Amino acid sequence: MNDMASRLRIAARMANIEPFEVMEIQTLAREVEAQGRDVVHLEIGEPDFTTPRPVVEAAKRALDSKPMFYTSAMGLAELRSAISRFYRDRYHVDVPASRIIVTAGSSAALLLAFGVLLDPDDEVLLSDPGYPCNRHFVRTLGGVPRLVPVGPETRYQLTAGPARRHWTDRTRIAMVATPSNPTGTMVTPEEIAEMACLCRDKGGTLVVDEIYHGLVYDDEIGPRSAPGRQARSAAEAGEDVIVINSFSKYFQMTGWRLGWMVAPPHLVRDIEKLAQNLFISPSTLAQHAALACFEPETIAIVEERRAELDRRRRYLIPALEALGFGVPVVPQGAFYVYADCSRLTRDSFAFARELLTKAGVALTPGKDFGQNEPERHLRIAYTQPVARLEEAVARISQFLGKP
Ligand SMILES: Cc1ncc(COP(=O)(O)O)c(C=O)c1O
Repeated sequence: MNDMASRLRIAARMANIEPFEVMEIQTLAREVEAQGRDVVHLEIGEPDFTTPRPVVEAAKRALDSKPMFYTSAMGLAELRSAISRFYRDRYHVDVPASRIIVTAGSSAALLLAFGVLLDPDDEVLLSDPGYPCNRHFVRTLGGVPRLVPVGPETRYQLTAGPARRHWTDRTRIAMVATPSNPTGTMVTPEEIAEMACLCRDKGGTLVVDEIYHGLVYDDEIGPRSAPGRQARSAAEAGEDVIVINSFSKYFQMTGWRLGWMVAPPHLVRDIEKLAQNLFISPSTLAQHAALACFEPETIAIVEERRAELDRRRRYLIPALEALGFGVPVVPQGAFYVYADCSRLTRDSFAFARELLTKAGVALTPGKDFGQNEPERHLRIAYTQPVARLEEAVARISQFLGKP
């Protein structure tokens, strides 16, 4: 260690902030590509689609005609109203614009939600496996993530029974993501209602991450409506539920950094104060662009892409099963398969590295998503066209020495 480094103090909390393993895989993938070899990227959490044209055009028009000053910390009034209408039209639930806070991606919404609810040492119940950033948001705020192991019996979701068993005097929040990252599985509206009831009884708050809403392929369960069926949001479960969403996934705007939150009325003012201080305002350009998301033209584009993701899903799941992977619960949404690789390896991390360096296929090892048997799981993102998925399957097959 040099002199300067030894004198610099780093906060103790940093010891508990883990790196994203998927980044390590991406770095390795770049090294493999630098050697002139082709890599099929199934590790990345964003599809290959670019932002829909009407959204890009709206951004260009806004750049030419609107001043790019800060907006209110809560977001543009027009956009908050458009999101409110979206809840009415798609979910048949009345969410006034006053409860909608536009944020820098759902990441900022999650930080704000945890920020207004947690004191040091307060606990948050999270599913394991689950989205890794949540536990790090909680730790950054001095809270304690309580990882609840979940498996196929609850579709890898945190439900009211296990949540009740893990609830302690320090629990303040229970969190659900539907569809989930990394499993693509969903909770039913009834399960959400039970979780909301539990949180109410215990004096805690339910936070529901709906960032993959819209990217749902099976209608039996959850929000995606078949013709004549009604889509459902956790916003219907009560004003006291915090709902998180984003323009990143369904509207394919990951890099624009725009999301939103539906907040309980009694928290709105505190969230506003925190948002003013942490972020001043979400991106003005991204907000003007996002106004075009709710236009029928854009919805038609993203719905066509949803159908394409479903085609990829329908190809990939049986192909993985034929290779020897287990897919105990069919993912209904998002663009991930959380596959059990225990018949093929005892160490998913070593397997992912070897598969990448020897066969040129990048996958994410379970390690990123918690401590619940990560060594026997891999997340495979169907964010590439079917032809590339076929190529990946052929390479994995060869790697495994299959005929
Ligand atoms: C479950 C989940 N929540 C939240 C996020 C954060 O997304 P963003 O900040 O782009 O809205 C992600 C990103 O992959 C995610 O998978």
